[in-house]
Amino acid sequence: MKRLEYRGYDSAGVATITGGALQRRRAEGKLVNLETRLKAEPLNGSIGIAHTRWATHGAPTEGNAHPHFTDGVAVVHNGIIENFAELKEELAAAGAEFQTDTDTEVIAHLLARHRQEGMGRGEAMHAMLKRVKGAYALAILFEDDPSSIMAARNGPPLAIGHGDGEMFLASDAIALAPFTNEVTYLIDGDWAVIGKGGADIFDFDGYPVERPRHTSMATAYLANKGKHRHFMEKEIYEQPEAIAYVLANYISLIENPADPIPSFDFASIPSLAISACGTAYLAGLIGKYWFEHYARLPVEIDVASEFRYREIPLSPQSAALFISQSGETADTLASLRYCKKLGLKIGAIVNAAESSIAREADAVFPILAGPEIGVASTKAFTCQLAVLAALAISAARTRGTVTENEVQALVRSLAEMPRIMGQVLNSIQPQIELLARELSKYRDALYLGRGTSFPLAMEGALKLKEISYIHAEGYAAGELKHGPIALIDKDMPVIVIAPFDRFFNKTVSNMEEVAARGGRVILVTDEKGATASKLDTMHTIVLPAVDEIIAPMIFSLPIQLLAYHTAVFMGTDVDQPRNLAKSVTVE
Ligand code: AGP
Repeated sequence: MKRLEYRGYDSAGVATITGGALQRRRAEGKLVNLETRLKAEPLNGSIGIAHTRWATHGAPTEGNAHPHFTDGVAVVHNGIIENFAELKEELAAAGAEFQTDTDTEVIAHLLARHRQEGMGRGEAMHAMLKRVKGAYALAILFEDDPSSIMAARNGPPLAIGHGDGEMFLASDAIALAPFTNEVTYLIDGDWAVIGKGGADIFDFDGYPVERPRHTSMATAYLANKGKHRHFMEKEIYEQPEAIAYVLANYISLIENPADPIPSFDFASIPSLAISACGTAYLAGLIGKYWFEHYARLPVEIDVASEFRYREIPLSPQSAALFISQSGETADTLASLRYCKKLGLKIGAIVNAAESSIAREADAVFPILAGPEIGVASTKAFTCQLAVLAALAISAARTRGTVTENEVQALVRSLAEMPRIMGQVLNSIQPQIELLARELSKYRDALYLGRGTSFPLAMEGALKLKEISYIHAEGYAAGELKHGPIALIDKDMPVIVIAPFDRFFNKTVSNMEEVAARGGRVILVTDEKGATASKLDTMHTIVLPAVDEIIAPMIFSLPIQLLAYHTAVFMGTDVDQPRNLAKSVTVE
């Protein structure tokens, strides 16, 4: 459960069959509360199901925590049952008494009803699955069968773990790693009966099927914070090392044009689609600049929850890249499947190489960032950028839109990143902490940028709002005068991300527009920018002057640290902010 807490942590519960009866313990809030409960009221049993929740329907209370029980059936569920309201109405009209506000409870009642109608367990499962619509990863116990767990998958991942005389089931291989590396992934529509000697798997129509058994590379190692207060701080400081590892694995890709990327030849595609969510989407936006600027490759990008509904006229000769740290984001997976159906070549830029998105792609580009536990993405973001930069330069080379000298210069710039990141991280923390103390007094903030600093401005805003709960927006600096400038006054700090690049002078004008209206500017620039700007700012963070291609990765560091330290001053739960989850496996 601790290894799955990143998926949701607003309540948790566990159920076993002991002495012929289903028993459960549940607790609101973080997993540690359930641990405390179990210490006070131990639960026995050699078979059980458990769940840590990210609420979709029903407040995160103990009463709504899984497992849900009714008449000898216990259910834990990841996903959303989209037709739960009509099922609930039908079941209630037939006398079912609902205890919770959740969608999941209808599954327990459906199964109980089918059993009362005389169906066996497998028959009841099959009948229930024919009725529910939506996304689910299910684990189910029937009180009258203490020898097996029933499972079903449609959307959110589900992995069966093969032990020695014991069997396991979990949402991913990471959770199984301490017990076994032998895993079988269920595919959409599958359901299974898992006993201690093995698993029988069936397809949606109830026919027995075989699914391949993998040896997972997930480690039993549970990341720890080391000397840091939070995982997020640790992961910020891991970036120089993580980036060095990424570059060691991707620079060769650029330098050996002879073997274009397997099953992903940028030279032959007319355009590229990119789809992702949150921080991964913002990395994709920066990648769009690079693919278009260096490789002259048109890029169509959108957040995954919008992408497939736009019905973009994509050519089957095109390719699509899906960016996802977890590799399990439901919206992104749905976009991938949409493009796959259109016949596009599918690439996945992921941190979890065994994830659903990785498994369904034609080509996988691992970001090699190592486990990222903090809900706010940091090292995954800069590693995604490093991979996108490598792919864009490789694409430019195979499309012949850059010279050999230009490629070598770009590679040299990339290779400088670990050193420069280390230099920045070892120098800016004290001033960032002072600035964060100031920023923590405000309720709103604006981030501005141009070019690749515009998506970075949105990333800075996302970091700040998701961990400090201060409302923040990222805007194209040039857009300020078209509306948002009405927000400017002394209570609206404006963080301007402006390396001394071709956009700098225009951004200075935007900063002057802010200052002229009593706004307070926090400027993030480099030595040349600090010299060139005569503005009296609230604060100026000066970074080393860097080449344009690596500016987004370097300028990520102060905005990550600023969000982190502001949240620390605000006293929020930095690693597990309220209402969030590390991987959102529901649409
Ligand atoms: C980023 O800090 C957030 N935690 C969130 O936006 C995240 O980037 C998004 O949910 C996508 O997750 P993924 O990369 O695992 O697909």
